[in-house]
Amino acid sequence: MTLQPVGSSQKQYQCLRIGAESFRVIAALYALAFDDPWPEPSVRELLSVPGTWGMVALDSGNAGSDDPNQPVGFILARVIVDEAEILSIGVPPQLRKAGIGHALLAAGLQRAQEIGATQVFLEVGKDNPAAMALYSHIGFRQVGMRKNYYRRSDGALVDALVMQKNI
Ligand SMILES: CC(C)(COP(=O)(O)OP(=O)(O)OC[C@H]1O[C@@H](n2cnc3c(N)ncnc32)[C@H](O)[C@@H]1OP(=O)(O)O)[C@@H](O)C(=O)NCCC(=O)NCCS
Repeated sequence: MTLQPVGSSQKQYQCLRIGAESFRVIAALYALAFDDPWPEPSVRELLSVPGTWGMVALDSGNAGSDDPNQPVGFILARVIVDEAEILSIGVPPQLRKAGIGHALLAAGLQRAQEIGATQVFLEVGKDNPAAMALYSHIGFRQVGMRKNYYRRSDGALVDALVMQKNI
């Protein structure tokens, strides 16, 4: 795994840029964090798209794993000119509510700003209170809604809120 520090540390978790060749690390975290994860080839393909990048949070001895260099969460994002989009963010269930998601999102926003973004967009399912709380607490506000945007594994259709934040 190749990790490229971008000098971001939020709360107690160090968040590092991860190279496209390390797609397996993100795919593995994806599989832990989501019921319907993207398969490895999709993560690999996504990370090869210009402007798209990933970051992982390291345990740094705080999340309770044996290895301080253990990745404990990921974020995927892209920047096109001055607009960034958070594509995905995930933390394994047993490590949630410990500030990892917040640290990753803050580090992702910082990087987006560093490479020229002035605003950030994302979509979140209306059935996802944890993600909505995370985004609201960091200053995102709802600017739109996409009806029946997600199809869950049980077939249920769920609206997506479109959220935005100036950075
Ligand atoms: C969304 C997710 C990344 C949050 O990660 P996390 O590490 O648990 O988040 P944090 O501990 O940093 O919490 C961030 C804030 O959200 C709040 N929050 C987190 N989970 C919450 C929950 N289940 N209910 C209410 N609030 C919650 C926290 O209280 C915290 O508030 P604060 O900043 O005022 O302290 C995580 O729940 C996850 O991986 N979910 C599955 C994947 C997913 O749905 N990703 C988003 C797709 S849009």
